[in-house]
Amino acid sequence: MNVENPDMLRSEIEQLKKERGAVILAHYYQKGEIQDLADYIGDSLALAQIAAGLDAKVIVLCGVHFMGETAKILCPDKTVLVPDAEAGCSLADSCDAGEFARFIEEHPGHTVISYVNTSAEVKALTDVLVTSSNARKIVETFPKDEKIIFGPDRNLGNYINSVTGRDMVLWNGACHVHEQFSLEKILALKAEHPGAKILVHPECKGPVQRLADKVGSTAALLNYAKESDATEFIVATESGILHQMRKDCPEKTFIPAPPEDGTCACNECSFMKLNTLVKLRDCLRDMAPEVHVDPAVAERARKPIERMLELS
Ligand code: 13P
Ligand code: SF4
Repeated sequence: MNVENPDMLRSEIEQLKKERGAVILAHYYQKGEIQDLADYIGDSLALAQIAAGLDAKVIVLCGVHFMGETAKILCPDKTVLVPDAEAGCSLADSCDAGEFARFIEEHPGHTVISYVNTSAEVKALTDVLVTSSNARKIVETFPKDEKIIFGPDRNLGNYINSVTGRDMVLWNGACHVHEQFSLEKILALKAEHPGAKILVHPECKGPVQRLADKVGSTAALLNYAKESDATEFIVATESGILHQMRKDCPEKTFIPAPPEDGTCACNECSFMKLNTLVKLRDCLRDMAPEVHVDPAVAERARKPIERMLELS
């Protein structure tokens, strides 16, 4: 295998970025080397907010496809590139737009709130989008007796129902990475590290959420780790976040929570990890793969995203 020199790759990327007038955005689940050279790193909400405010001609979205679509919907006149067009999302795939439309028809009179981890077509069927950062706040803007459909993540939906006292109708979708965390293995780690705080993403199953000292989005978990007096943390979300936690808090110890299957100590999203420095360089060089969204779908999908940004 022909392995390229990382320093050369980084300088090629910097050079191409200038030539193309591009800005690189990366999610916290990206490989460390991609996070390190991104212009902005963030959770799903921050990446959408940053994309909406950029005046660059080209956005490279290092994350998964729905994040590229969100950027393209918000910035239809910009070129949005992704390093690997195959970087999908099992949660977004768990909600087919045709089936979701039928689900909405079966629940007349309901407001439709969808998680940002959805296709543009599902967004186009939605009244307001949320991320894990703002889901609680946005749901609470509706009256207590508002009839609400929430999709596609059942774990986030159950969490929001429990903290807001709502009874939203939930779509039965989930993320294959976050559902994999093992309650027993986390309890065993806690027994070995009794002082450790347990940080849990709301896409995890309920029993894992109930162990948590903090349930929150990637950015919320990172902030909690920075502000906490604790020195050890067990982290139940995709292991890419540990890179930024260790960078921001070098004196603290971050222990990835293990999945149920296999012997692996941490839990990676194979879609997020499809992006590499080589593919990032190639996408800037070739101006491809480019994200396209059907303009009619984008027009309808923009409204619930903008409504989310206003309410955030
Ligand atoms: P946040 O960064 O919004 O917490 O999202 C997590 C996620 O699963 C992104 O795919
Ligand atoms: Fe989708 Fe889960 Fe990967 Fe996030 S971690 S991109 S929700 S499959």
